[in-house]
Amino acid sequence: MLKLFVNIDHVATLREARYRGCARGEPDPVAAALACEASGAHGITAHLREDRRHIQDRDVWRLRESIRTCLNFEMADTPEIVALALAIKPEIVCIVPERREEVTTEGGLNVVAAEGDLSRTRQRLNDAGIDVSLFIAPEEGQVAAAARVGAQFVELHTGAFAGQFDDLNRRDFQTARLVAASKQAHGLGLKVNAGHGLNYENLPALRQVPHLAELNIGHSVVSRAVMVGLPGAVTEMLLLLEGYRA
Ligand code: PXP
Repeated sequence: MLKLFVNIDHVATLREARYRGCARGEPDPVAAALACEASGAHGITAHLREDRRHIQDRDVWRLRESIRTCLNFEMADTPEIVALALAIKPEIVCIVPERREEVTTEGGLNVVAAEGDLSRTRQRLNDAGIDVSLFIAPEEGQVAAAARVGAQFVELHTGAFAGQFDDLNRRDFQTARLVAASKQAHGLGLKVNAGHGLNYENLPALRQVPHLAELNIGHSVVSRAVMVGLPGAVTEMLLLLEGYRA
């Protein structure tokens, strides 16, 4: 079964737009996470960025205490955030690249260039009982490096697929890249997740990609929730995922 992890960063983005620096404010990303779970989401994803632009430390601690499914903690491989992850103990850490000027995570990790550092961080997290996922572009060299690092998962970056979706040729090309990377990762013993830019329109086309375990979807679910509420937005997305046969 293909699982839906809802990324609640954008709920926190909305709160921070009005309540930055305050101890609390609405909307509450933890309440949103609980609503997603109640509607059938299989897990919750949150990215604690170094600049704390949306999710705050207190959100992650409260998520850890309150959610009953699975916490996928997105983070950069920096000493401060790794120490926090080891204390919080999410079920999964997804290591992502972070650049301060980006609006959201724009590219995949360069695992090839950081193989040594990532291997050491992966080992420390695994020793604490935390599974590790690496967010990578669907490229042969990156998939092979992720396997050498010893990660349990790769999350394939679907940003190019989503961004070129309206051009049929480009869409086919990007889908083929995802198919090849997923097959390669699966063949190397990695579990395969995907995320970034997925929405209610492009998701059915992703069914061509084999071996997918979990999708991380944020912006489209939170956006639709503005119109129909989170339960409706999550339920609709789950229905789309039901059509997937690995
Ligand atoms: N997966 C990763 C690793 C991400 O960084 C993000 C964006 O924060 C997502 C998934 C979700 O992307 P979107 O908000 O476009 O659904």
